[in-house]
Amino acid sequence: MRKVCVVGASGKLGRYMVRHALERGYEVVGVCREVSVPKLAEFEGRMTIVPGATDDPEVIRRAVADCDGVLTVLVPWGVRQYSSGTAQAVLDHARPDARLVFSCGWHITRDGQDRYSRMFRLGVRAATWVGKLVRYVEIDDQVEACRRVFDSDTRWTVVRGSSLEEGPSQGLPLWSRHVGDPVLASDLTRRVDFALFMVEALTDDSLVREAPAIVGRLSASALAHGHKV
Ligand SMILES: NC(=O)c1ccc[n+]([C@@H]2O[C@H](COP(=O)([O-])OP(=O)(O)OC[C@H]3O[C@@H](n4cnc5c(N)ncnc54)[C@H](OP(=O)(O)O)[C@@H]3O)[C@@H](O)[C@H]2O)c1
Repeated sequence: MRKVCVVGASGKLGRYMVRHALERGYEVVGVCREVSVPKLAEFEGRMTIVPGATDDPEVIRRAVADCDGVLTVLVPWGVRQYSSGTAQAVLDHARPDARLVFSCGWHITRDGQDRYSRMFRLGVRAATWVGKLVRYVEIDDQVEACRRVFDSDTRWTVVRGSSLEEGPSQGLPLWSRHVGDPVLASDLTRRVDFALFMVEALTDDSLVREAPAIVGRLSASALAHGHKV
């Protein structure tokens, strides 16, 4: 891994990923909306910024050229297929041998084997419905984005985040293939560690074509069941 691109670099997860990537000595390119470039001021002189919409194929083509890895924050803002457009642009323009790591939440299922609580399912259904009604978020489009990634023959990993909190790192999160596994029960990860898992995945070939659901390393369920992972 020499050069990596962070798509959605100015968000909270994106900035943590930029920091982890720079710490590893990677050359970093970041994509973010023009209005958000000032949010990356702390990295001035240490990264290249390509301003623009993350679903603009031309912006992504320029940003991912030559990159060995691409870290993409999939967010379903608005009702204009932003998430699937972003995923598609990365799938189309990244080098065929590049490591592609995408972020999403536990609500994404790869094989339908995840076991969700009733509360979780109700929450996702409500967010999908209300989000669309007020034209704020399009959860269905994040589902579509991940379907396209799962169906691609690229070297992808889709990291499924639990509920998030801020705070100092607890180390690399634990993961499981399926939501509902006891190790994940705490449903809480530090955002800084979500980013750590994304960056570590770039060089972990055992995660190629996996959709790990993650949980904080020091969460109660990880401490109780972690040895089984
Ligand atoms: N939040 C949670 O509790 C949670 C839980 C599980 C998984 N996740 C996953 O974690 C990842 C990061 O989520 P996050 O909540 O922590 O958010 P985040 O890191 O703050 O990222 C939000 C991203 O959305 C962009 N954005 C915001 N408003 C936008 C708009 N109107 N149009 C276009 N882009 C816009 C931001 O760009 P700007 O800097 O330009 O605004 C930023 O890149 C996502 O993949 C999410 O599915 C989150």
